[in-house]
Amino acid sequence: MTFSAVQSEIRPVQWNGHACVLIDQTVLPGIYRTIEIRTSDQMATAIRTMIVRGAPAIGVAAAFGMVLGWQEAPQDDPITHLERVAATLRATRPTAVNLFWAIDRMLTVARREPSFARLEREATAILEGDIATCRAIGEHGLLALPAAPERLRLLTHCNAGALATAGYGTALGVVRSAHREGRLERVYADETRPRLQGARLTAWELVHERIPVTVLADTMAAHVIGRGLVDAVVVGADRIAANGDTANKIGTCGVAIIAKHYGVPFFVAAPWSTVDGNLPSGDQIPIEQRDSEEMRAIEGVALCPQDVEFYNPAFDVTPAPLITGIIVESGVYAPGELAAAGQAQLGR
Ligand code: MRU
Repeated sequence: MTFSAVQSEIRPVQWNGHACVLIDQTVLPGIYRTIEIRTSDQMATAIRTMIVRGAPAIGVAAAFGMVLGWQEAPQDDPITHLERVAATLRATRPTAVNLFWAIDRMLTVARREPSFARLEREATAILEGDIATCRAIGEHGLLALPAAPERLRLLTHCNAGALATAGYGTALGVVRSAHREGRLERVYADETRPRLQGARLTAWELVHERIPVTVLADTMAAHVIGRGLVDAVVVGADRIAANGDTANKIGTCGVAIIAKHYGVPFFVAAPWSTVDGNLPSGDQIPIEQRDSEEMRAIEGVALCPQDVEFYNPAFDVTPAPLITGIIVESGVYAPGELAAAGQAQLGR
């Protein structure tokens, strides 16, 4: 099955009234297939194995995981069951705070208005809200990008696109808006070892929309930025601390250091649901450690000698002083302005 034969807009998480339909992101770009998720345990597995991935997308998926949990719950005590489902979903991936934000929001609603229809409505609101949020991020980001040159060369890391959200994307939302306005020359997409979200997913999305994209090995960023081929860097985020320190896919911090060295602006694009106002700084952000198999082999072909040891943190933290601006749905803030802006916006 090819993607374009099926639908034109990328929607990684969809609800069909009784089950959730996920695009299987583990097999793209070679295979486009969807998987029907019918139980909350299946949803937890899909998040853990990265069939669905990207901070906002796993939040949306977890929200529907809670709807599935309600469907499974005994009638006499559904809330106790839902709390168990919440614990299972929370244990899937530790870094992206959107997961916890969405689960908490669903639990709050369930305790107040315990009904399937209400939970279904809330999960749908989270999904639709995320698409609107990404579009707003795209518009604000467009205004924050350098005014010159007229047509920009943007570099991104990992995949913060439609696949990583409910649709449209955060960093790629900015890219999409720039492309629509005729302000984009090209995107450089870091391949993003070890799981290659840049090469596999970002490139797939952009090729699908005929947005010019060049894939780089991660080792090439300093050379390409140093040669003056990049006007700005735009990345997504998994969790942003109150001081603006930002956890994102491993390798992001290195790109930020390179951008700072060469005087290239470095933007983080994310919804407010990615901002964790409870954490004063990034050193408290939990960093997921993943299986060493992700590094040892690609598609079963060994890259290293048999008994070598690996270190496989999935995320790193970019210190706030390396970040030019944080693009959220309400505007663009310097990292130091974020906490006050969050309080004004969300009462945090
Ligand atoms: O491990 P992943 O693929 O879930 O990591 C994804 C990222 O790091 C994204 O950049 C981040 O979640 C932002 S998605 C809009």
